[in-house]
Amino acid sequence: MTTEARFPAGFVWGAATSAYQIEGAAREGGRGPSIWDTFARTPGRVAGGDTGEVAADHYHRYRQDAALMADLGLRAYRFSVAWPRIQPDGRGPANQAGLDFYRRLADSLLERGVEPWVTLYHWDLPQALQDTGGWAGREVVDRFTEYATAVYGALADRVANWTTLNEPWCAAFLGHAAGIHAPGLQDPDTAVRAVHHLLVAHGQATRAMRALDPRPRLGINLNLDPVTPASAGAADADAARRIDGIYNRLFLDPLFRGRYPDDVLEDLAGLGGLDRVAEADLAAVAAPLDLLGVNYYRRWVVAARPERPRFGGPPSPWVGAGDVEFVASDRPRTALGWEIDPSGLDELLRRLHRDYPSLPLYVTENGAAFEDVPDVRGLVPDQARIRFLDGHLRAAHRAIQGGVDLRGYFVWSLLDNFEWAEGYAKRFGIVYVDFATQRRLPKDSALWYRDAIARGGLDGLPPAPNGKGG
Ligand code: FCB
Repeated sequence: MTTEARFPAGFVWGAATSAYQIEGAAREGGRGPSIWDTFARTPGRVAGGDTGEVAADHYHRYRQDAALMADLGLRAYRFSVAWPRIQPDGRGPANQAGLDFYRRLADSLLERGVEPWVTLYHWDLPQALQDTGGWAGREVVDRFTEYATAVYGALADRVANWTTLNEPWCAAFLGHAAGIHAPGLQDPDTAVRAVHHLLVAHGQATRAMRALDPRPRLGINLNLDPVTPASAGAADADAARRIDGIYNRLFLDPLFRGRYPDDVLEDLAGLGGLDRVAEADLAAVAAPLDLLGVNYYRRWVVAARPERPRFGGPPSPWVGAGDVEFVASDRPRTALGWEIDPSGLDELLRRLHRDYPSLPLYVTENGAAFEDVPDVRGLVPDQARIRFLDGHLRAAHRAIQGGVDLRGYFVWSLLDNFEWAEGYAKRFGIVYVDFATQRRLPKDSALWYRDAIARGGLDGLPPAPNGKGG
């Protein structure tokens, strides 16, 4: 029997997006090219040949979008700043037109009672910095600090919550080992180097931002998922330890314990020089934070396949774990084939609270892609998404009841958008975007979310499989 789930007063109800996925206006306002412009223009990289050139045209429609957020009762909106709008060449003085755009956006939100949350880096590195080594080189650490402080200096008076990086695991491993995200490299050593430079850049920028203005709260967004062994056997347990290591602990430990985990260093066998980094770097990475943003989508179930090589197999984000198989279960799936498992969120939040205590947590992304189609009345009946969100919010609520300091939840995503290598075909929005006309159409899930926010939580009954949500 499902019970009511009321969230604490002050719980932050939000939605999230990122710059390249929604802004468009790729050549306006002095914006320079990013690695995602280059990657998306390369034939065969993105489904349908889609690019973020126009996307959801949010650059021109941000006022309308802010009004829509207010209509839905959102308390907060997490967006990212496009680095190439601020530094078209990745270095040097900030482009005033770029800063002005984000000030206007923040002000439109504040005027409507929606709190702006800024993420500084959601994967759109200026192409000019890639040309001199990108995240694989050391220079990017200073460049990121310079960029971050320029944006912070311009917006810290009106933005109270900041995160530096979105999902450094994806930036490093999908971008440099699997090659399925920009910059499209397939070199495990480079990917591990990128991990370290992303983390040092995060830490150094965090310190510099604090020195500039101590008032805002600072954090980072990590994609974290529980990893479960497929059987009770020792080999599968070890496979789970290793995947948890290179996915979750590789980031959590240096950030919150000041060092890379020994077992992960061993598993990575010296790649990227990670076992020889300077103490000063580790101290920089562990700059104190005010919050951790948790992006949760799924659970991984893994089994050992000792007959396969650990290293040197086909390109994969799972560096050094070529002998681990990801096992499918019969759980329901999203349109991306991701298994739906709300209990993983509860488990993850409790684990973070147990292993890395004393840090306020926010779910800064959670959501699902489904095949959404508007009906003749212009409604988008996305009952599956309502069930998804309901289940995950209930899991979040259980975690809070279990003592976890969870303070907010951001749906991914406010709008249908450019879903990276999947292009526009995979729709994550609670608001439907007709990309031909740029018309916005709140899906049933948006109306359901509006009611949940207004109520401060969920009623006793979860949404019926085919009926209306409630
Ligand atoms: C996350 C990304 C976000 C979006 C969702 C579906 O990994 O941060 O931009 O693509 O997945």
